[in-house]
Amino acid sequence: MDTQSVEMSASVMDQLEESLLQRYPEAPGFVGKTKAAEEFRNYEQTARSTVREFYRLNHTHQTLDFVLTKKNEYLALNRAQMSVWEAMEFLNSLVDDSDPDTDYTQIEHLLQTSEQVRRDGHPRWFILTGLLHDLGKILCLWGEPQWAVVGDTFPVGCRPDDRIVFHEFFAQNPDSHIPQYQAPLGIYQQGCGIGNLHLSWGHDEYIYNVVKDYLPDQALAMLRFHSFYPWHKEGAYAQFMAPSDAGLLEAVRAFNPYDLYTKSHERPDVAALRPYYEDLISEFLPATLRW
Ligand SMILES: [Fe+2]
Ligand SMILES: [Fe+2]
Repeated sequence: MDTQSVEMSASVMDQLEESLLQRYPEAPGFVGKTKAAEEFRNYEQTARSTVREFYRLNHTHQTLDFVLTKKNEYLALNRAQMSVWEAMEFLNSLVDDSDPDTDYTQIEHLLQTSEQVRRDGHPRWFILTGLLHDLGKILCLWGEPQWAVVGDTFPVGCRPDDRIVFHEFFAQNPDSHIPQYQAPLGIYQQGCGIGNLHLSWGHDEYIYNVVKDYLPDQALAMLRFHSFYPWHKEGAYAQFMAPSDAGLLEAVRAFNPYDLYTKSHERPDVAALRPYYEDLISEFLPATLRW
């Protein structure tokens, strides 16, 4: 993969995050701590076309077949053995220098997120979850196109909910011609549990699988569903929820502000924070993980 396309993915990621802030500008629990959405550099014109094109590709190509193929390809976790810190440094090769206001590296975003969780006095597993949550974006560095790494996720194999952003592009998805996949339940059963849905492929599902043996259920839900905005922000797909999902939804909602609204905080001192986080990582995770 050439450098230019890697830089472009980081830039698209930033624009997607800005579009999320435009869609969800409120910051519950963070009043007075965040930059107002309108203060963020105004990318509206360019972001609109870039973000729109991103979702056109995403909604066109994320089919049930595609998701199952990617799960097969990645979830054997036989690509690499790396420590969490090595994965963070690997991810950091996604650099975006296009915006002086939000010019944070990927490591800085992870540490800004985890440090805010830590300042708010949450349990250690929650702090670690903040640190880990975007490590699945190394999919970009394995050569995946950005529409298969980032952006809002949604279940495939059932009718896409109207509340999904740029919903109209699903008309171009080949699954729109398969009647079973267009039923409200599709290939699933009522109340089957959110964890039993095949969500569109991306960085959430990947990091969830890398650490799923080591963290509590709430942490795993935060990792696996943090991009599932149609569910945790819009209230869609309630037909699939099992009773145990209510607590997981609450956990994902508790995590979301830390991901969305910590970008305007000061730049973390990566070297100074490293010993604390190496200790935290070793409390829960083995020295190397399979990726
Ligand atoms: Fe993410
Ligand atoms: Fe994030």
